[in-house]
Amino acid sequence: MNVVTVKTKEEMSATASKLIVDKLRQKPELVLGVATGGTPIGTYEEFVDRVKQEELDVSSMRTVNLDEYVGLPRDHEESYWHYIYTHLYKPLKLPVENAFVPDGLSRDLEAECNRYEEAIESLGGVDLQLLGVGRNGHIGFNEPGTPMDSRTHVVELTESTRQANARFFNDIEEVPTQAITVGISTIMKSRSILLLASGQEKCAAVEALLDGKVDIEWPVTILNGHPDVTLIVTEDAYCSDKEDDHA
Ligand code: GLP
Repeated sequence: MNVVTVKTKEEMSATASKLIVDKLRQKPELVLGVATGGTPIGTYEEFVDRVKQEELDVSSMRTVNLDEYVGLPRDHEESYWHYIYTHLYKPLKLPVENAFVPDGLSRDLEAECNRYEEAIESLGGVDLQLLGVGRNGHIGFNEPGTPMDSRTHVVELTESTRQANARFFNDIEEVPTQAITVGISTIMKSRSILLLASGQEKCAAVEALLDGKVDIEWPVTILNGHPDVTLIVTEDAYCSDKEDDHA
C-alpha cells in the first residue's frame, strides 16, 4: 500500500483530486467509483476547480456510486444520488446518464442489486475507486462482519453508522435503516483504490488497516489484499499514544 501522510484535510483533498485528474488524462472515459460522506467533499471541490481551470473535458467519465439509502427518492437532499449530483454533475454540467447509483426506491431490491452489479460489469468495471472509511471500519456500507466475497446487497445499517450519519439529517429517526451497497468483492475488483481518512475518530480503522492483517470485523482491512491501493491520511487520523497514559 502506498501511504501518503498529509498535515491537513485540504492537503488530502488536493492530493486526491490531482491523482483523479492524472487518471483522467490517461483515460478520459474513466469509470470512477465515488464515495459519499464528509471526507471526500473537499476532493470533489478541488476536482471541480481543477477541471475548470485546466479546461479538461470530463464528459466521457462515468461515475459509479458505492451505495444508496433505501427509501429516499433521488431528489431527497440526503440521497447519495443527490450528493453526487450536487458535488460533481451540477458544477461541471455533466450528463447525468453517466451517473450510476443504486435505486433505493426499487420495489425489488434484490433484483436491483443484481442489476447494479451487471451495470458495473457492462461498464468494464471500476478503474479507480475513491473510498472513505467509517469509524467502525466500514467501506461503502459494508459493516463489520460482512463476508469478504459479498456482491452488491441490501444492508441493515448499524446504530453506530446511523448515529454518525444523523448529523446530515434533522433527527436520527429520519436516517434510513437500510441501504444498498456494492459488496466487498465488488470493491476489490476495482483496478485501483484511493482511500481517504481524516480525523481522530477514524484512528482505530486506520490502525487496523496499517496493522497489515485482514480482519472481517474491520472491513477496510480487506484492502491489504489489493495490489494497487493509495491511502491518503491526515496526521490526526493516527491514534495518539497519549490515550495509553490513561490505561
Ligand atoms: C458513510 C458512507 C461511506 C463513508 C463513511 C464515512 O456511511 N456510506 O461511504 O465512507 O460513511 O463517512 P464520513 O466521511 O462522513 O466520515
